Amino acid sequence: MRKTLLLAAALLVAILPAEARKAKKFTHNTVQIPQVSRQVIAVETDNTALVFLVRENGQLMMLHYGARVGDPAQYLAAALSDADYNTLAGMAYPASGGRYIGEPALHVKYADGTHNTELYYTGHQVTAREGCTTTSIGLQDYVTGMEVKLVYDAYGKENVIAAHTEIRNGGGQPVALLNYASAALYIDADEYLLTHFHGAWAAEMQLEHEVLGHDMKVIESRRGVQATQGNNPSFLLSLGTREFRENEGEVIAGALAWSGNFRLSFDRDDAHRLSILAGISPFASAYPLKAGDTFVTPEFIYTWSAEGAGGASRNLHRWARKYSIYDGGQVNPTLLNSWEGAYFNFTTETLLRMMDDAALMGLEMFVLDDGWFGNDYPRNGDNAGLGDWEPNRTKLPEGIDYLAQYAHGKGLKFGIWIEPEMANPASNLAHAHPDWVVQSPGREIYQGRNQWVLDLSNPAVQDFVFGIFDRTMQLAPGIDYIKWDCNRVVQSFGSPYLESEQDRFYVEYCQGLYNVMRRIREKYPRVIVQCCSSGGGRVDYGALRYCNEIWTSDNTDALSRIYIQYATNLIYPACVMASHVSAVPNHQTGNVTPLKFRFDVACAGRLGMELQPRNLSTQERALAERCIGSYYKYRDLVFSGDVYRLASPYDGSYYALMYVSQDKRRAVVFTYCIHFEPRNVGGKSFKLSGLDPSRTYRVQELNVDRSAWWGNGQAFSGSFLASGAFNPVLPQQYSSAIFYLEAD
Ligand code: GLA
Repeated sequence: MRKTLLLAAALLVAILPAEARKAKKFTHNTVQIPQVSRQVIAVETDNTALVFLVRENGQLMMLHYGARVGDPAQYLAAALSDADYNTLAGMAYPASGGRYIGEPALHVKYADGTHNTELYYTGHQVTAREGCTTTSIGLQDYVTGMEVKLVYDAYGKENVIAAHTEIRNGGGQPVALLNYASAALYIDADEYLLTHFHGAWAAEMQLEHEVLGHDMKVIESRRGVQATQGNNPSFLLSLGTREFRENEGEVIAGALAWSGNFRLSFDRDDAHRLSILAGISPFASAYPLKAGDTFVTPEFIYTWSAEGAGGASRNLHRWARKYSIYDGGQVNPTLLNSWEGAYFNFTTETLLRMMDDAALMGLEMFVLDDGWFGNDYPRNGDNAGLGDWEPNRTKLPEGIDYLAQYAHGKGLKFGIWIEPEMANPASNLAHAHPDWVVQSPGREIYQGRNQWVLDLSNPAVQDFVFGIFDRTMQLAPGIDYIKWDCNRVVQSFGSPYLESEQDRFYVEYCQGLYNVMRRIREKYPRVIVQCCSSGGGRVDYGALRYCNEIWTSDNTDALSRIYIQYATNLIYPACVMASHVSAVPNHQTGNVTPLKFRFDVACAGRLGMELQPRNLSTQERALAERCIGSYYKYRDLVFSGDVYRLASPYDGSYYALMYVSQDKRRAVVFTYCIHFEPRNVGGKSFKLSGLDPSRTYRVQELNVDRSAWWGNGQAFSGSFLASGAFNPVLPQQYSSAIFYLEAD
């Protein structure tokens, strides 16, 4: 029977004329694209505008991002006519397909194997809430039914736009998203200087400037977790210059709010214009989207300023403190952390004495770091115990409650360390749930710091990780602070849970992490969470939605920290930068710096100490107490002031910066000599910035016995201080001085 049917089909094909056969196979109907009216859509903040053009054929182009220039309708008059648009460069959200041949923001592979998507405008909507206007622009592919919504949240006063995209599979078949950027920008300037951040453990956020040529520049992370320790998902772009300028010139600063693999690309086209895409890295992540499902990208946050890098940083910081960082307006406590002072080697007694010292020195919190848990596999080193989160009965027979109560009795808050996404192979957890570990069938499960990564794409693992946090919070009433660590990258990735859909792993790991954090915040809105991740491994605006601060780096050497904090603070505000004074020789670099220098560096962020206070001399303790005491005088400026950088450590022998209160009445100035220079015996001139020129400020030097500036204790006008007459003597390498300014 089957044979007969096949024969009949073959005969039919043979008797059809060749043309008819061809037509049958290649029938081609061109879908009609509805015409729309030509118009501009402007997304505006107080000083900036992002302007789009809707062409009559429905294509959405980006016309401008930069200064706000009055009535946006002018752009309509000045825009190329539709007939002149012979290139599709500059599409607001370029999709792979149609005439477009550049790097796509969206690239979809359809069930029939095709790759073409052409997006056309369907309408837009503007809504407003306090301080923010949201513009949503709808786009559609009329052949496949793919729908895209571009969403721009414009924060008026802060001049920041947070853009994301919602991609809906409106067709009847499943598709795979091969590229799915959060947003695109198309910029026109004569030159582009890209400033970005690369790094490694203990050397995070190293600054690199690069004049962009015509080859594509890509900044990416494929580390899976701890994604930002290599490259940070952020950048500054100086326009029309080959020089990095702090105080003048046009600068765009951008950051992706995502803690997983990311990709930023910068592509300069034939017309010398620059196309920027920011989003989740497509590496091994062809994301399957079922019919009717929507994928929501993370936010790409950006700002524009004509006041150089300084202006761009201040915009981002103001926005982040108000809208992005968890409890961003809050001042977080100073602390003593047990890690570098005790490592794994402590008893209850050790910790009690550290708490005594913390309280005596005037600190506000004690944080018990790694080493407090595990019984069958005690955590006495980094080779065992991760996963088994019950207090170690030998080291801490009285339990955590006893420690927390003791801290509270001393007037200290109490914090504790966890690393809930990980397991040592030597743990009950790893034995009980081998399928919860990230792994690829038949391959070795590689270890990093003797540990494995748990598969957060698995909802059961998400429950477990939430449970760790929850149970740790129950160990004592009133745990005030959790240090959330994450000490390795993903390697040989794979999820037993995701079975044949491994392409979802990287994306859903990060979404899983956020699910857990969201649940934690619902239950524990007030606990302070530090996002640690080996130091510098989760420095991104995605994690900061749930965390109050970051552990800036495991490198606590004050000299290294100057470079790390300088660069971190270009994008992230000082309130999130945890910065600790540690012992010398420094445990990471071996460098020896004076205690005052270490304090003066740590005081430019959230101040903490991480050493055994018993090892300080009487003199050192007195200095420590003085530095901690004076920190409280200006801490609110570190947490909520505007930063003005006076000298970059990359430009010479000095680093200097200041934080100025929003009302310009108070300021604190930090100055450091990082390399010896013979001429600095005569003082080093800095032009103070951000002050009110007409106000008179009294200047008081802090943290010292001997003053570094002739003007100490006197009052000067803001304009005088801005003139270069402020010239503290910083005679040697590691000389430093802090000045507090208050208007009379
Ligand atoms: C990581 C963190 C450190 C410390 C150790 C503990 O390296 O960055 O601050 O908590 O883990 O193991």
